[in-house]
Amino acid sequence: MSQTLQAIRGMNDILPDDAPLWERFEDTVRSWLRSYGYRNIRMPIVEPTPLFRRAIGEATDIVEKEMYSFVDELNGEHLTLRPEGTASCVRAVVQHNLLYAGPQRLWYAGPMFRHERPQKGRYRQFHQIGVEALGLPGPDIDAEHLLMCARLWDDLGLSGIRLHLNSLGSPEERQRHRAALVAYLESHRETLDEDSRRRLATNPLRVLDSKNPAMQAMIEGAPRLLDQLGEASLAHFEAVQAVLKDAGIPYRVDPRLVRGLDYYNLTVSEWVTDRLGAQGTVCGGGRYDGLVELIGGKPAPACGFAMGVERLIALMREGGAADSGEPLDVYLVHQGATADRFAFTVAERLRGHGLSVLQHAGGGSFKSQMKRADASRASVAVIVGDDEAAAGEASIKALREERPQARVALAALPQAVSELLYGGRSD
Ligand code: HAM
Repeated sequence: MSQTLQAIRGMNDILPDDAPLWERFEDTVRSWLRSYGYRNIRMPIVEPTPLFRRAIGEATDIVEKEMYSFVDELNGEHLTLRPEGTASCVRAVVQHNLLYAGPQRLWYAGPMFRHERPQKGRYRQFHQIGVEALGLPGPDIDAEHLLMCARLWDDLGLSGIRLHLNSLGSPEERQRHRAALVAYLESHRETLDEDSRRRLATNPLRVLDSKNPAMQAMIEGAPRLLDQLGEASLAHFEAVQAVLKDAGIPYRVDPRLVRGLDYYNLTVSEWVTDRLGAQGTVCGGGRYDGLVELIGGKPAPACGFAMGVERLIALMREGGAADSGEPLDVYLVHQGATADRFAFTVAERLRGHGLSVLQHAGGGSFKSQMKRADASRASVAVIVGDDEAAAGEASIKALREERPQARVALAALPQAVSELLYGGRSD
């Protein structure tokens, strides 16, 4: 016997028992996005590798060690399974010149791929819902995105998700801060671990993100970017906070919040929960005013965020959410050569009236088929034997309540089943 094949580590199947909660989540998300006027965009899952190297940044963890990159053997192209959606979304907006028609409010959903060490809440294939607003420079959009998230947590019945905010200022302000930071880190070289020494040269800001306990006191004393912000950046940040205060959304300014992708400026945010262990960040984003130009478009401001679907669904489960899916209306039992053929006509007639029908397959006695019907999620069994088929009729039996079995003509069947299910409403 050949060896059983397994899914790739960190890439999960979502099984039918789990899918209804995913579907409920997706339904809620869709109507939430509609209520803010965002439109759907769908990009390929594979993109040219240089897109991500350029957009996310050469010195980030994602580009350095987490991308699924490969050479297409057929034409030698360097390709990558997308680790995130912002770069692809901006690429699509630039390629199709969407900003010509004015600002764009967009969303996408789908799998992303990162070669991380799998653990609870961290996977190699995971799903994001991403939201991007392009062509709008003001703090009103940053604020809109934060209000959106707060409303979604509410719509999903989730509580205890806290907002952390920071401002990364402008590239010039970051340059100034970087120089001060490098000087500071150089003067504390003996405290830096190996990873941080390497980052000192490539991406010193990321040193502040280190979780190494031995470095925390040193990091605490490092020069803060927030203290280097000029008037315009401060005004932008304060305007975002003013909207949050008006809306009554609590938040914490965290000067150490730097995010793991290089394209950000001004406002950055993360939504965090304590209830998922180490992987508590359910959503992150911010402004990325330089990215459109970096990808080859005319300069345009932009802002967005993405949430981790697995983490939000885990939170819903943790809060007691369960969903066994839509019930089924009819289990169709049929036995005999004429009945087996007539069953198709019966099933299609019922479906044509908006009823859901699981047509028994695989043969077996009436008794064994009725057992299947009982074990199914159906409310009603419709039963066809050869004598019913010959008469153009079917029998109806309620599966979840005591009712006498009835025999009706095909034409009257949908109405009779609907009456049993909904007290008469059909279609
Ligand atoms: P990110 O912070 O890398 O940002 O990812 C967003 C969210 O995706 C995270 O907060 C987390 O919930 C989820 N996530 C990330 N990696 C994993 C993983 N390995 N397993 C499970 N969930 C994960 C971005 O991707 C940016 N594109 C967000 C953005 C959009 N910024 C502006 N626009």
